[in-house]
Amino acid sequence: MRLIIRKDYDAVSEWAANFVARRILAAAKAGEAGRRFVLGLPTGSSPLGMYERLVALHRRGALSFRDVVTFNMDEYVGIPEDHPQSYHTFMRERLFSHVDIPASSTNILNGNAPDLEAECARYEAAIVAAGGIDLFVGGVGEDGHIAFNEPGSSLSSRTRVKTLTRDTRTVNSRFFGGDPAAVPPTALTVGVGTIMDSREVLILVSGANKARALRHAIEEGVNHLWTFSCLQLHPKVVVVCDEKATDELKVGTARYFNEIEAANFDNGLA
Ligand code: GLP
Repeated sequence: MRLIIRKDYDAVSEWAANFVARRILAAAKAGEAGRRFVLGLPTGSSPLGMYERLVALHRRGALSFRDVVTFNMDEYVGIPEDHPQSYHTFMRERLFSHVDIPASSTNILNGNAPDLEAECARYEAAIVAAGGIDLFVGGVGEDGHIAFNEPGSSLSSRTRVKTLTRDTRTVNSRFFGGDPAAVPPTALTVGVGTIMDSREVLILVSGANKARALRHAIEEGVNHLWTFSCLQLHPKVVVVCDEKATDELKVGTARYFNEIEAANFDNGLA
C-alpha cells in the first residue's frame, strides 16, 4: 500500500485528480482495440475537489472521458433518481454533465429497482462485461467503511442491499436537513470483494474525523469492523490523505511513508 500525505484537502484533490487523469490518458495512449478505461467512482465530500479539477482538465482540453466507462459505488434505496441527495444527482452535477462521457457509459445502481437483489446481480455482471474495474476511487466513512460496507460487512461481499448504521445516517444527515431519520435506512453498495477485484484502488482521506479510520487501515490488522483495512490485502492500493487525517498515526509511520514516497520520486517511480 502506498500512503501519500499531502498538506490539506486541496492538495489531496489535486494529487488525486492528476493520478486519475494520468491513468485515463495512459489507457487512451495504449489504445487496445475496443478496450475502454473502467473507472469506479465515489460520492461524498471527499471527491468534490478531485471532480472539480477533472472537469477543469477537461475544459482545458487536456482530458477526455469519451473512452471511459464508470461504475459508481453505491446509491440510496427508495429516493427518486432526481432527488437532490441521490447519488445520480450528485454525479450529474459534479462530473457527468460537465465532461464528454456518453450517458450510456455511466453506471449507477438503481435504488428503485423492483427487485433489488436482481439489480445488484445485474450490476456485478455489468462490471464483468465491461472487463472489470481498472481503477476504483473511493472515500472512507468515519467508521472506516468503504462504499457502504458498514462495520461487520463480509470482506468478500458483493454488490447487495445494506442497512446503514445509526452513525452513518447521523454523519450523512448533514445532506438531509440535519435529521438522521430523513436519511434512507438502506442503500445498494458494491461489496468489499467487488472493490478488491479492481486492478487498482485509490482512496481519498481528509480531515481529523477520518484519523481513526486511517489508523485502523494503516497500522492495525485486517478487520471486518474497519472494512477499509481489507485493502491491505490488495496488490495495488494508493491512499492519499491530508495531514489532519494522520493525527492518529505514529510519528514514525508518517515519516516512513513520506520517506518511501520521496525515494520513489527521486527514482522516477512515483
Ligand atoms: C458515505 C458514502 C461513502 C463515502 C463516505 C464518506 O456514506 N457511501 O462512499 O466514502 O460516506 O463520505 P465523505 O467523503 O462525505 O466523508
